[in-house]
Amino acid sequence: MSKSLKALLAAGTLVLLAGPAFAAGDADKGAKVFKKCAACHAVGENARNKVGPELNDVFGRTAGGLDDYKYSKAMAKAGEEGLVWTTGTISEYLADPRGFVPKNKMAFAGLKKDDDVANVLAYLATFSKDAPADTAADAAPAEEPEAKMASAAEESAAPATAGSSTREGGVHGLGRVATAEEVAAWDIDVRPDGAGLPDGRGTVADGEMIFTEQCAVCHGDFGEGVGRWPVLAGGQDTLTRERPEKTVGSYWPYLSTVYDYVRRAMPFGNARSLSDDDVYALTAYVLYLNDVVTEEDFELSKDNFTEIRLPNEEAFIDDNRLEEPHYADKGEPCMTDCKPDPVTVVMRARILDVTPGSVDDDEAAGAGGVD
Ligand code: HEC
Ligand code: HEC
Repeated sequence: MSKSLKALLAAGTLVLLAGPAFAAGDADKGAKVFKKCAACHAVGENARNKVGPELNDVFGRTAGGLDDYKYSKAMAKAGEEGLVWTTGTISEYLADPRGFVPKNKMAFAGLKKDDDVANVLAYLATFSKDAPADTAADAAPAEEPEAKMASAAEESAAPATAGSSTREGGVHGLGRVATAEEVAAWDIDVRPDGAGLPDGRGTVADGEMIFTEQCAVCHGDFGEGVGRWPVLAGGQDTLTRERPEKTVGSYWPYLSTVYDYVRRAMPFGNARSLSDDDVYALTAYVLYLNDVVTEEDFELSKDNFTEIRLPNEEAFIDDNRLEEPHYADKGEPCMTDCKPDPVTVVMRARILDVTPGSVDDDEAAGAGGVD
């Protein structure tokens, strides 16, 4: 559970950090660079649209956003899809105008030098009230990824302060950058070494009260499971049977999973309604039901959490399957470029009859590669 969450967070980090880093620009040098733009663009007092739109207050402007200028369809569409001009997006546009907004009508080859881009941006910033206060911040050495993520998220709340090239809506006009609060609410995994545990505490007796009210309808007063709802206690010595009873006491390796799972998912149908203290108390009670602790006044807290060991922990071993007889003779499994020839589709899901048919299937069947 925590592994995949971390992987997702890492992926998110990459998305947020993607894009070039920008050096701080020099507005005076930028004024010279702007001569290349001035044939088509005006800035400053009384700036008017020329061949291109005037560029006052361009930071934070939605692409194609001036009412009195006639943009190409491509530029208007990019704006509708969420393109907003920021340090990041203008830089990308100037580096490759046709590549960044295909079919837009700016007949300009682009600026090849990063310095020219940074300098012209610094110059444009002097005509923009929402300009980034300090483009130098973007050139700062890499911070902790999580800190960087939070600041990227903050930037998204005020696109004009940009610096990152996170374009609202992305190329497909979908979604937005998660806010720092959203990331924090999501990042609740608790790991076996205790990482992620919140402050708090609760006793077996507290847990029993909550359990009786909120859990026993499904899991039974003693965790024995009502009807076919999951059993939470007992089952010791059943693991080698044909139908093992896998419970927290008989099977689970780490107590952190109980805390994480209950906090994240229980009570079923009303997830995330328990306080951190409630979850400590309930975890203590589940330990009690499994005879891992025996006193009703036992209190579980952040401090003693990692001292608790579940009975089956030792039976979990590192994955060394290459040494297992079944795999040993097969060697390392191939993970890349395993098939030298081009891949061909040999059978379609619809023909295999594993997916119910729909109108889309006919198109998909023609498009190839979906199975
Ligand atoms: C040959 C004329 C020409 C030159 C030179 C030129 N541009 Fe443009 N620019 C345009 C046109 C035309 C558009 C509108 C594009 C469209 O609607 O597809 C545009 C659009 C833009 C936009 C988008 C503005 C908006 O309101 O969406 C920015 C930013 C921009 N140019 C910056 C620059 C900068 C900075 C330079 C110089 C480094 C420059 N351009 C050079 C013609 C030019
Ligand atoms: C409405 C019925 C219901 C209630 C109420 C409920 N649970 Fe559950 N519980 C479930 C179901 C269903 C699962 C299995 C979910 C799954 O496997 O996706 C489950 C799974 C669990 C598990 C993991 C069991 C295992 O071995 O996989 C624990 C621990 C747990 N619940 C604790 C609690 C606690 C503590 C409460 C009270 C705060 C609670 N549950 C309230 C239905 C309920």
